[in-house]
Amino acid sequence: MKSYKQMSKEELLAEKAELEKRVEGFKAMNLSLNMTRGKPAPDQLDMSNTMYDTLSKDGFISEDGSDTRNYGVATGLSEVKKLFADVLKTSPENIYVGNGSSLNLMFDSIMRAMVFGEHDSPKPWSQVEGRKWLCPVPGYDRHFKVTEQCGFELIAVPLKEDGPDMDIVEELVKDPLVLGIWNVPCYTNPDGYVYSEEVCRRLASMKTAAPDFRIYWDNAYVVHHLYNEESKQGSLPDILSLCKEAGNPSRVYEFASTSKITFASAGISVIVANEENMKQAVKIMGIQTIGANKVNQLAHIRKLPNVEELKKHMSRHADILRPKFELTLDILEKEIAGTEAATWHKPLGGYFISVYTVPGTAKAVVAKCKELGVAFTPAGATYPYGIDPDDSNIRVAPSFPSLEDINKAVEVFAVCVKLSAVEKLLSV
Ligand SMILES: Cc1ncc(COP(=O)(O)O)c(C=O)c1O
Repeated sequence: MKSYKQMSKEELLAEKAELEKRVEGFKAMNLSLNMTRGKPAPDQLDMSNTMYDTLSKDGFISEDGSDTRNYGVATGLSEVKKLFADVLKTSPENIYVGNGSSLNLMFDSIMRAMVFGEHDSPKPWSQVEGRKWLCPVPGYDRHFKVTEQCGFELIAVPLKEDGPDMDIVEELVKDPLVLGIWNVPCYTNPDGYVYSEEVCRRLASMKTAAPDFRIYWDNAYVVHHLYNEESKQGSLPDILSLCKEAGNPSRVYEFASTSKITFASAGISVIVANEENMKQAVKIMGIQTIGANKVNQLAHIRKLPNVEELKKHMSRHADILRPKFELTLDILEKEIAGTEAATWHKPLGGYFISVYTVPGTAKAVVAKCKELGVAFTPAGATYPYGIDPDDSNIRVAPSFPSLEDINKAVEVFAVCVKLSAVEKLLSV
């Protein structure tokens, strides 16, 4: 298809009429579809249904002899720590095992720094007037909301294919009010990029004015490959080791969970931290709770006893997800390629496809889809304060709907992307 930019006014008007005809066709279908939800589909969840059977069959005693039904073992079962240590290329003593939400652990970690300060903080973060936080964009809206809620000014940093723009980050961290940065290093939400080793090293070694600067390293998608892309995972180094090597051993908190491995919100989550950070965190968490749900930890480790079993399990997830991603990409390609009405790339893992519409049209696209009964994540959601300065990025979530629903929803989306692009060109 010809680029819209190269079309004459007459050609654009003809295209507009064609697209409007299709819109009328969609209206008549009375659609009610949802592409907003980055969550596992029911058949993915079903894969873990038998997880709890082992408890009544094999009992509640963990490897080290502790009774998981009772208090004790506050930082998590040793076999669970070992599994996560293997996945995240670290040591079991660096792991704390929490309950069903890593976002909860991230929120609490920031709150601890707000109220009590980090072990190397001159003062608690709540007392730092004008505190700021770096947000690679586009990014995960819930991350941004956590730091917004805690009174940080959110500073957007462009995310490139290999991670945040480090020239900009290195400049920004010269400001002592900049206290941290969000990261999703493996399959960024929503772009699906994987950080390069060089970016990881620069983050670990950069000179920050704040002595208690923290990297929040949310490894939510560390084993969520769509193509068993071992090479990608292999290329992501252990950030704790890099920080230690660079002489900044306390710079990072890493997080992960089984929300998109077993059950979302009913899985297990971890904090990975060095000795000093862990000591500070555990001291306070030990007052907050006597310990997390170890019965659930035991059920998980029996279902996924080692990395090999975890990989097999994740490849079954990938078998369900891959056709949904590929169908979405095929429709985008078939409908939009050549028109220059949008750009996107093929992610090799994670949960999203990130589409960039003609600047100034993303909100209009989402509104048009909504009118036709197809819900997409609000435009702007992937930016701090919900404001995309280019009004261009839209996060598409193909995991939850059926292939049949994706087929229709993405066609509607593509038509609305094209119509909005044509309208924009005709308006100038
Ligand atoms: C990057 C990222 N981190 C964290 C979460 C939420 O994780 P949890 O369920 O462990 O709180 C999500 C969910 O979509 C996510 O995309």
